[in-house]
Amino acid sequence: MPKPKVFVTRAIPAAGLNKVRQECDAEVWTEPLPPPADVLKRKIADCEGLLCLLTDKIDAPLLAAAPRLKVLSNYAVGFNNIDIPAATARGIPVGNTPGVLTDATADMAFALLISAARRIVESQRYAAEGHWKTWEPMGHIGQDLAGRMLGVVGMGRIGAALAQRCRGGWNMQVLYHDQRTNEQAERDLGAKRVELDELLARSDFISVHADLNDSTRGMFNKAAFAKMKPTAVFVNTARGPLVVEADLVDALRTGRIFSAGLDVTDPEPPAVDNPLLTLPNCIVAPHIASATVASRNAMAEIAADNLIAGLRGQPLRHCVNPEVQKS
Ligand code: DGY
Repeated sequence: MPKPKVFVTRAIPAAGLNKVRQECDAEVWTEPLPPPADVLKRKIADCEGLLCLLTDKIDAPLLAAAPRLKVLSNYAVGFNNIDIPAATARGIPVGNTPGVLTDATADMAFALLISAARRIVESQRYAAEGHWKTWEPMGHIGQDLAGRMLGVVGMGRIGAALAQRCRGGWNMQVLYHDQRTNEQAERDLGAKRVELDELLARSDFISVHADLNDSTRGMFNKAAFAKMKPTAVFVNTARGPLVVEADLVDALRTGRIFSAGLDVTDPEPPAVDNPLLTLPNCIVAPHIASATVASRNAMAEIAADNLIAGLRGQPLRHCVNPEVQKS
């Protein structure tokens, strides 16, 4: 029996790739950059499975060009790169990798939060560029963390893991904004669910953990930054398009907010002349929140298992459109 033909859009850790190679006739795109759209279209034309990344746009025309496709496995917890209704309409289950990158992403959010609050990157540049002449009683003054107010926008797994760190380690108070009540966070962390405007006005640190969709796109805009404290630190480890970047640049430049720490931008990568890359009160990392050995290995395993299960017509370990599997 021939193995099912699949395309894997980048080399992923062996923990998953070996499984895929064992079970499938797999072609792996090993270039450092993602396959261009026309190449991807050609590559998956006769494939039964696709293991893709958040950098691959999977839309209705692409799916229509791959009539044999039985499963889409995204190597990420987020899936905004995939047109889910289009996949569902074609009866294609879409897998993702939740849970295994929660701690790594919460750690990254906290690293950005404390680095932006204490001006770590700006200070490092200052030292490296030879400006450090003496101890400065009035220099490099940042924001305290202990006992301050954390505002979490999107209190899912990752938002709650960040809140747990801030509450347990720094005795912060926690506000959150979410469509749903997170009873565990309320019980264990004393978190309080509030309207977005109240969160923006009362928080010292605002960390974004919301999904990107039509209702959240651009939610951090001029009006939102105007409601924040001038001492506020803004952190985004979710998705770049949640933020109107020009408005964030303006808020940072004018001192409307204190600083920002970003693991995501819009687009990715940002243009080399994007002011966010050079503003002293902004830290930009290249979307690395899940980049730990354990997280990436676990993501690879789940992505492989999702792909293989879909090829066998079995339920995926994690499926974002489970209604497909029921039909
Ligand atoms: C995800 O999984 O959605 C992250 O953004 C990358 O790991």
